[in-house]
Amino acid sequence: MRNFFGKSVAVGAIAMLALTACGSGREGDDSGSGDSGSAKGFEANSVIGVALPAKTSENWVLAGDLFTNGLKEAGFQADVQYAGASTTVADQQQQITAMTTKGAKVIIIGATDAAQLSTQVAAAHAAGAKVIAYDRLILNTPDLDYYVAFDNRKVGQLQGQALLDGMKAKKPTGPYTIELFSGSPDDNNAGVFFQGAMDVLQPEIDKGNVVVGSGQKEVKQTAIQGWKAEGAQARMDQLLTSTYGSKELDGVLSPNDTLARAIIQSIKSRGKTVPVVTGQDSEVESVKSIMNGEQYMTINKDTRNLVKESINMVKALQGGQEPQINDTKSYNNGTKVVPTYLLPPVAVTKANAAEAYANDPKLAPLTK
Ligand code: BGC
Repeated sequence: MRNFFGKSVAVGAIAMLALTACGSGREGDDSGSGDSGSAKGFEANSVIGVALPAKTSENWVLAGDLFTNGLKEAGFQADVQYAGASTTVADQQQQITAMTTKGAKVIIIGATDAAQLSTQVAAAHAAGAKVIAYDRLILNTPDLDYYVAFDNRKVGQLQGQALLDGMKAKKPTGPYTIELFSGSPDDNNAGVFFQGAMDVLQPEIDKGNVVVGSGQKEVKQTAIQGWKAEGAQARMDQLLTSTYGSKELDGVLSPNDTLARAIIQSIKSRGKTVPVVTGQDSEVESVKSIMNGEQYMTINKDTRNLVKESINMVKALQGGQEPQINDTKSYNNGTKVVPTYLLPPVAVTKANAAEAYANDPKLAPLTK
């Protein structure tokens, strides 16, 4: 990969193993997945649990509906639950326990807190359920069977690169002044997104082409607890007061759309020009903002595809097959390297929005 300064960017390449199977499973081949193979399978109308976090972004809302319908269509009994907005961790722990008690054969989890589910995951596994981490990895447990997600490191790299490209398009020469935001520290993705972005930004910071105006570069300084819009808005307000009285701000690394819109809101309410702001998730309001020339970019992680791959995993397990995976090295959860299926994220700006969302009935009309 090359950045706009013409230098190679270390992409921390994730080796994508050749896909060896078609369809949803590989009979009798458990390579790369330890003892996760399910020789017997289970009954076609079994309960499948889906434990999702609070609705902190549109993708989670969409995922719940897609799981409910998709699992039902495939002949399973779907038990889809969301953690509540305030007691998220305890809610989710109880929901997973209840799914285990109900005899769920597979439990798919979008973790509220990556590090606080090992007890529930162990109990589910001991009761014979397979456990799949959906979108967010679950840490410190040997009992997690699979992980299915968009390539999170790549998401960050695309955001970092787009930030540089966007600033360069507005102002041909640097140095560029930026601020960095990252997601919730209890979500493993937040650190991976940030790492990916820094793969691209750090070399430019080192060369002095990019300057973090406030000097706040550590994850603990940039993190927004719970991915809350109000947290991002408050931090941006503070940064504007402390650092941007007269100084120009050229760009903001925002890890997702919800936070991007809050950051833009904060900047606009001070009467300042909106800088280049990144995002993620292709939320309706952000796609509109991109088309209006306000937010600079987002990431398309088509939830329909992620849910489909998750349901493919369930179908394979039901038939006693090994689910398809394409990554056996990127996601060490602290106890084991989790067999993973990664999907490719796509960077979207106003320039490619029509093409990127051509097959999305909700977003395509916004790009016309
Ligand atoms: C997801 C993002 C989302 C964020 C907040 C992350 O784990 O990967 O797509 O924006 O959570 O909900």
